[in-house]
Amino acid sequence: MFKPRVLSGVQPTGNLHLGNYLGAIRNWVPFQQTHECVYMLADLHAITVPQDPIKLRQSVRETAAALIACGINPNTSVIFPQSAVSAHAELAWVLSCLTPLGWLNRMTQFKDKAGKNKDNAGLGLYSYPVLMAADILTYHATHVPVGEDQKQHLELARDIAGAFNRAYGTEFFPLPEPMIMGEATRVMSLRDGKKKMSKSDESDYSRINLTDDADAIAQKFKKAKTDTIEGISWDAENRPEIANLITIYAALSDIKKEEVVQQFAGAQTSAFKSALTDLAVAKLSPITAKMRVLLEDVDSLDGILKNGAERANELAQPILKNAYNLVGFWRS
Ligand code: TYM
Repeated sequence: MFKPRVLSGVQPTGNLHLGNYLGAIRNWVPFQQTHECVYMLADLHAITVPQDPIKLRQSVRETAAALIACGINPNTSVIFPQSAVSAHAELAWVLSCLTPLGWLNRMTQFKDKAGKNKDNAGLGLYSYPVLMAADILTYHATHVPVGEDQKQHLELARDIAGAFNRAYGTEFFPLPEPMIMGEATRVMSLRDGKKKMSKSDESDYSRINLTDDADAIAQKFKKAKTDTIEGISWDAENRPEIANLITIYAALSDIKKEEVVQQFAGAQTSAFKSALTDLAVAKLSPITAKMRVLLEDVDSLDGILKNGAERANELAQPILKNAYNLVGFWRS
């Protein structure tokens, strides 16, 4: 009944890292062969925590360049800044009126980000998953490729779509399917195998950025935390850091984790790290180089974003209008 359409997004808040790449963006690329794809720079989401306006604007460009360098084709996929399409915020209001607080209270990411002092957290940080639901539903997206950490938000998006459909006695919104794919759905910090690799980690040594050069990648893997157990073996519970490196190796080389373990079973950690460095440099350096070239031509990038925003508006506005009509709003 619904046309297959993929939507996903990334926050333009600093450099993308290996987690974003392996958990999400890399999986966006093949959908371009089979689906209509809409990929968004989520700047509305970014301001749920303080952002410098000049850096935010530039970061949208840099993130767009990263997506293109990773293989997203702006001629076929729609790439745009979320803030350039008002339907997201407009639909979010309607959906927020249908979302019980109890559903939001369960969101673990809010609990993690707000920390102990919840009273000081912004309302936007709390209602962020409702905006995410609006991002997806305003395109009638059917498939949403994301990393493991977004799973709970996507389950909520399905619940919210169902709540709208029930409230207005329709089947207007599809229930979007989360697509959590590949060997590395949750890449962990290089400093702590129990923490997710994240842009907001204070230590740059905790992550591999898509802008890192070969030296930086080598240094980071060399310093990556490991353990004192001999050889390379899979033990996610007791060897989380080694498990993370095995996962990264498997994802980068498109093989199964078991094959990586077999290949390096007798190797010393330092030899494994060195092979991983070579692999990461080989895979990431073409992306970094392409990003650099794209960022030299800011006018072209801005043109891509402007064109993407126009196409996104064309897709979103009729759906928003129909949703408004169902609600009883005025919009012609
Ligand atoms: P963001 O910007 O935190 O991350 C972008 C994508 O990268 C994935 N990811 C990871 N995957 C594996 N390992 C990691 N360590 C890791 N860190 C991040 C995320 O799961 C995500 O897929 N709220 C979203 C952006 C967003 C969105 C949407 C996504 C806004 N609206 C609608 C899908 C649909 C976010 O903050 O992603």
